[in-house]
Amino acid sequence: MRKTVEVPPEELQKSLEASASLMKELEGRGFQYYIESYGCQMNDHDAEKLSGMLQTCGFSPAPSKEEATLLLFNTCCVREHAEKRVFGNIGALKKRKENEPGLLIGVCGCMMQQREVAERLFKRFPFVDLVFGTHELHHFPLLLSRTLAGERVFSVRESDGEIVEGLPVVRGGSFSTFVTIMYGCNNFCSYCIVPYVRGRERSRAPENIVAEVRSLAERGFREITLLGQNVNSYAYADDGVDFPELLRRVSTVEGIERIRFMTSHPKDLSPRLIEAMATLPKVCNHIHLPVQSGSNRILSEMNRRYTREKYLGLVEDIRAAVDGVELTTDIIVGFPGETEEDFEETLALVRQVGFSAAYTFMYSPRLGTRAAEMENQVPEEVKKDRLLRLNACSAEQLKVGNQKYIGQEGTVLVEGCDRREKAPMAYGKLTNFKMVYFPGDAGLIGSMRHVRITGIQNNSLIGEPVE
Ligand code: 5AD
Ligand code: SF4
Repeated sequence: MRKTVEVPPEELQKSLEASASLMKELEGRGFQYYIESYGCQMNDHDAEKLSGMLQTCGFSPAPSKEEATLLLFNTCCVREHAEKRVFGNIGALKKRKENEPGLLIGVCGCMMQQREVAERLFKRFPFVDLVFGTHELHHFPLLLSRTLAGERVFSVRESDGEIVEGLPVVRGGSFSTFVTIMYGCNNFCSYCIVPYVRGRERSRAPENIVAEVRSLAERGFREITLLGQNVNSYAYADDGVDFPELLRRVSTVEGIERIRFMTSHPKDLSPRLIEAMATLPKVCNHIHLPVQSGSNRILSEMNRRYTREKYLGLVEDIRAAVDGVELTTDIIVGFPGETEEDFEETLALVRQVGFSAAYTFMYSPRLGTRAAEMENQVPEEVKKDRLLRLNACSAEQLKVGNQKYIGQEGTVLVEGCDRREKAPMAYGKLTNFKMVYFPGDAGLIGSMRHVRITGIQNNSLIGEPVE
């Protein structure tokens, strides 16, 4: 594990100080921003930091995209679909920019960290005012001030990545939120672009993480999700703190009742982590453990560095140790060279494990990754067919798995409320990430409620409150 590199506070300060001059620029211009974020939770959390910096600079959020005077696209490039959407959505703004010359358009995020894609976008859409990569996030106010001064700014820098502490954050929720514990990825799964756009693995100092969690608890947050591309390889070089130890430290923060984490790579899931899940009461009994494929040959081609047997062994160990645990996963179909037999091994694994959710994707070739160069690419129709069959199989398993909940009781952290025809239904998750709907109104949002499961609807459980 590399030693952490932190961005010196003076450099961050310089960037944020640009906000002061920005404020002056903005006086009377009434700028309002809107951020459109694509992709994973990591990206959503970056959008919260962009928001934080913008509000520090004196911008306020626009009530709608149409009313915004600064539009920011926080892009994703994990699959081609996301890329196409961004190009489409930005292209559609041409007319609006002609009618509203004062409108500022910025594009950032993972897709802009791929230099050739960023350059193509900057060239294709001359009305885009600002493009910057993932390693420039903390320079955003500085770059924006140049844009406001009339310059068209393009800033994409190669870097292994740094750690920036102390960026302002405007959080979307008020009782559940994300805390990044590490950035980047070293795994180079052969299909994946993430290591190229997010840099090498680097872990935040445990004391900074605990301090952030403590300040969130003081503000009333009750649930936190620790984020990283591969949290199991969290390692802080200075004092040998690993992920299970970090969980233990975060558990000591008063006021936090639920601790979640994602994502876990099966190759790094240690017995110590299973023990931490089993023994630390605040750590939730849910694990997101992407399997990607059930075929050993494909797993090896994917450079995942575990076998189907190793994965199934982990599932067994987790289930034996952690009460009521549920597993969710990610699966790719149609990886180059995947045969019908390989795919059937994935179906068999899904049947054997019984995931409570499987996020399924058709393989999408990413420029610069090893798998994109492989010769035996699978035709689109075959990928589509396999995706449908996999989804049907996983839905079937879910139905079977849900049956066991009928009659059980559990605690829900209420996230929201749906207006239904008969009565409003509150909803939220059990500790193991199962979604439950039960009669209740919006006043319950943010509270913990004890429920008894009485039925199943689609993928969710239906319950009734228990006093
Ligand atoms: N094509 C399809 N799916 C992908 N994923 C990552 N890269 C690709 C790709 N090139 C999926 C993996 C990963 C999830 C976040 O996205 O399943 O776990
Ligand atoms: Fe991509 Fe593999 Fe890293 Fe996950 S572990 S981000 S799939 S390279």
